[in-house]
Amino acid sequence: MLKEVIATRYITPLREGGSLPGLVEGDDFAPYVMKFSGAGQGRKTLVAEVVVGELARRLGFRVPRLVTLDLDPVLGLGEPDQQVQELLRSSGGANLGMDFLSGALGFDPLAFTVSAEEAGRIVWFDALVNNVDRSWRNPNLLMWHGDLWLIDHGATMIWHHNWPGAEASAARPYDAADHALARFAPDLATAAADLAPKVTGELLAEVTAEIPDAWLTGEPGFDTPDLLREAYAAPLLARVPFIHERIKGLQ
Ligand SMILES: Nc1ncnc2c1ncn2[C@@H]1O[C@H](COP(=O)(O)OP(=O)(O)OP(=O)(O)O)[C@@H](O)[C@H]1O
Ligand SMILES: [Mg+2]
Repeated sequence: MLKEVIATRYITPLREGGSLPGLVEGDDFAPYVMKFSGAGQGRKTLVAEVVVGELARRLGFRVPRLVTLDLDPVLGLGEPDQQVQELLRSSGGANLGMDFLSGALGFDPLAFTVSAEEAGRIVWFDALVNNVDRSWRNPNLLMWHGDLWLIDHGATMIWHHNWPGAEASAARPYDAADHALARFAPDLATAAADLAPKVTGELLAEVTAEIPDAWLTGEPGFDTPDLLREAYAAPLLARVPFIHERIKGLQ
């Protein structure tokens, strides 16, 4: 289970983020990047962060530790910024938190070099989860202590916005033409050979078990959170065997 932390202080908004993530302090005194359940994109973005972030971590990628951040909406009362106040007020209960990597730099494909091996692993993984938010314009990769860290997995698994069409949607190829790491000659064959066997039904069950029930209840067509967890695992499992052959746009 994700560690449960209580948000005790809203520090500042991270202005670059489209969803207005904030920097908050937890009751363990640690700083967290907080993604709000009441933000425009809603709970599904948070579910995607957990499924994809925790899967990435188990496959050996560097991902900031994820926690749930419990928010008391009264924290918004003292906020001078109207937009932030609204966000805090509409996000009572469980939100997503991740360790704040202090001093991390945004990855710039023109300023940093990545090996063909690491690029291959990240592109393969992004193809598996259909990440449309790792372009050179907005890489959602951070350089921290000399290493590459993966963040922002909210725009993945597009099929969870239309469950009846999920199977067909998950059969589609992945376009990597704009991928932030496309220029580093990603070695997809080696990545697939190493990573694909690790993405098992068992691993996906472990990963989806991390999603808080509160973000899964009330989804039309699913009577229990566990049925929805299975629906999250199925398209990923289906993509594992073929996705490396359906990555388009690389030279
Ligand atoms: N764990 C972290 N540690 C340090 N900085 C972070 C962390 N997570 C996010 N940031 C910073 O905050 C910015 C916004 O975060 P993120 O990309 O996750 O939000 P978003 O609203 O989904 O963004 P967008 O949709 O604009 O890509 C990042 O580009 C990065 O600069
Ligand atoms: Mg982002």
